Amino acid sequence: MEKKDLDWGNLPFSYMKTDYSYVCNYKDGEWGEGFLTEDHSLQISECAGILHYCQEVFEGLKAYTTEDGRIVCFRPDLNAQRMADSAERLCMPVFPQDKFVEAVKMVVKANQAWVPPFGSGATLYVRPFMFATGDVIGVKPADEYQFRILVTPVGPYFKGGDTAVTLGIAKYDRAAPHGTGNIKAGLNYAMSLKPGMEAHANGYAENLYLDSQSRTYVEETGGANVLFVDKEGNLVVPQSFTDSILPSITRRSLVTVAKDFCDMTVIERPVKWEEVLNGDFVECGLCGTAAVISPVGHIEDGETVVTFPDGAETSGPVMKKLRSTLTGIQAGAIQGPEGWVVEIA
Ligand code: PLP
Ligand code: COI
Repeated sequence: MEKKDLDWGNLPFSYMKTDYSYVCNYKDGEWGEGFLTEDHSLQISECAGILHYCQEVFEGLKAYTTEDGRIVCFRPDLNAQRMADSAERLCMPVFPQDKFVEAVKMVVKANQAWVPPFGSGATLYVRPFMFATGDVIGVKPADEYQFRILVTPVGPYFKGGDTAVTLGIAKYDRAAPHGTGNIKAGLNYAMSLKPGMEAHANGYAENLYLDSQSRTYVEETGGANVLFVDKEGNLVVPQSFTDSILPSITRRSLVTVAKDFCDMTVIERPVKWEEVLNGDFVECGLCGTAAVISPVGHIEDGETVVTFPDGAETSGPVMKKLRSTLTGIQAGAIQGPEGWVVEIA
């Protein structure tokens, strides 16, 4: 398969049109036959539900080339499940899990020439999304939807490689209304744009969001879950009382990797911002499909600066070990749990 002539090692994390997208429409209470299209634009009614009441959910996963030249993706069944949960919360029809995984395979296979080569640092980002196309004027769910998958080759989300980033503490919530932060709906990301822009203007790579009810507990950032390592070397994974942390597939995989592959103790519990301020943690990292595991060196809250001593400049030893094990499983160099790596071509 002839690859596209791209500068794979220097791709930004941005959108570029590829050959095909996948489309499937929902009408009269059922999903139709899905198909590939070369048309990358849409025409929808001015009264479509997405434009008025924001019925839109999305997912993100990656396809990549393994060391031995196969094209694979990572746990797409969990993206299908999370999209079903997101859709249910917004009164949208569920796109069936087997159909979702087949659609991912179909669109990635059709765009094989766009899957970056092994070792380039780039991947094919796969973005399934679903939105209301049916007309609504009263506040109610639409009755027609489109499920679509676009794919685009991307480079790393955080540009500095293994250089540790600094986070700020967000002044606003990242989800609307409270308690919807556990779904991947475009609406939540719209709510995070203003605090995100302010964080960047203040020199921070990202915001750390605190729980919206008490502003006492650590939640996550705008595009990744957060992980800590305590002084005993345990992996500490923040949990939410209000179920408003996105159930990151990378984070859930890392919990297994830490326990079963790195022989670590994992503690999943609510984490107070105060504990971070007290210097209880020696490493911090962000994890997600886009972020993979990116080191956090400092978190600032106004005049107060928290430094993670074992990873202040680059990844500390625990984050490094977790990252090499997870990426080793993804690349096929380490045998991971059954079903994690799904072969496409
Ligand atoms: N948290 C938020 C808010 C995200 O947007 C993402 C990215 O999808 C994640 C966490 C990480 O989730 P995952 O590991 O499933 O990509
Ligand atoms: C992902 O990691 O897939 C996301 O959706 C995060 C987004 C900020 C790009």
